[in-house]
Amino acid sequence: MKGIILHGGHGTRLRPLTHTGPKQLLPIANKPMSQYALEDLKNVGIHDIAIILGDIYPEKVREYYGNGEEFGVNITYIYQEKPKGISHAIRLCKEFVGNDKFIVYLGDNVLRKNLTDYTKKFSSSDLDAMILLCEVDNPSKFGVAYVDKDDSSKIKNIIEKPKNSTSNLAVIGVYFLTPKIFGIIDNLKPSSRGELEITDALQLLMDKGNTIAHDIVTGWWKDTGTPEDIIHANRLVLDSIGTENQFLVEKDISTKDNIIIGSNTKISQDSSIIGPAIIGKNCKIESGVRLGPYVSIGDGCTLENCSIENSIIMENCKIDAQVNLVSSIIAQSSQIDGNTISKKSQFLLGERTHLKL
Ligand code: DAU
Repeated sequence: MKGIILHGGHGTRLRPLTHTGPKQLLPIANKPMSQYALEDLKNVGIHDIAIILGDIYPEKVREYYGNGEEFGVNITYIYQEKPKGISHAIRLCKEFVGNDKFIVYLGDNVLRKNLTDYTKKFSSSDLDAMILLCEVDNPSKFGVAYVDKDDSSKIKNIIEKPKNSTSNLAVIGVYFLTPKIFGIIDNLKPSSRGELEITDALQLLMDKGNTIAHDIVTGWWKDTGTPEDIIHANRLVLDSIGTENQFLVEKDISTKDNIIIGSNTKISQDSSIIGPAIIGKNCKIESGVRLGPYVSIGDGCTLENCSIENSIIMENCKIDAQVNLVSSIIAQSSQIDGNTISKKSQFLLGERTHLKL
């Protein structure tokens, strides 16, 4: 089987974070979110992976993943000039896919479930497609599947973002497909949002008498469309981080086993960290700092005097202020300094911002 990761799209709901890079490179627990997709594909034995690049800094994606060697896979890059829809992006991969079955993984979806059983089931079956569903509170934000009331193994309809949905089964952004989908996409018309929708392709595939299997995934799944989603995904991933703390720290901080600290990071005696938390390499956590729970600090950050909770601080940031950050995202190389703010503050700062309080 082959894999496709969608790395294009609009990214408008994540501005200013997406002014300087594609949303799929935004870190969750110090790892770009699309790397979770890549690792999920690799873990089921898929090594040939195409990454669809969009027009938001595609060179940053190439720079990070290279030819894939470092990640144990072979990467082919395919450009999508404009975000004309998920089906449009898939259609660009016809030559790459050849006669193989394949998995399409949306680069902004993070899924806890291991895909091994699904992959085995699909690769050894005659199925024309397989989709994963997840119960959600807000189905109108997703593609939604309507299961046959008399036979729950059958899907009757798949509709993109229905207004008042009677089903709460969202279609997860991981699709098991065969080359049959390409002919189907050739017959699609753009939706009201001007895109070739994956949900329309799946519906047409069913309408033409093909078989689509589904499974309802338990455990968490996150589509990271908004800053709140990213902070939530960070919490979910941190909740499941490993238990080793393999790196040297300057003092024996009260590392319960859910704190990961990168090499060469120095932590002052007068600071405290409550897990789950991850701190990257070469950081300086100076006196008076309170971190956690649910905090990710990227490599090369210097923190002083501040208190940070439920937040993501990306690489090379400097914070030196008596500020109490909650539910914040601070992008790379930003700086916060100045006077004390006594109440809790929530910031969303784009790359290289200097905030003087
Ligand atoms: O997250 C699951 C949902 O993803 C599904 O339930 C929906 O059926 C599906 O349409 C999709 O909905 P979104 O509105 O969330 O899709 P979004 O525009 O955010 O794009 C999903 C990913 O695909 C994202 O990583 C960007 C990428 N993409 C998107 C488009 C439209 C591309 O690479 N190219 C594109 O043309």
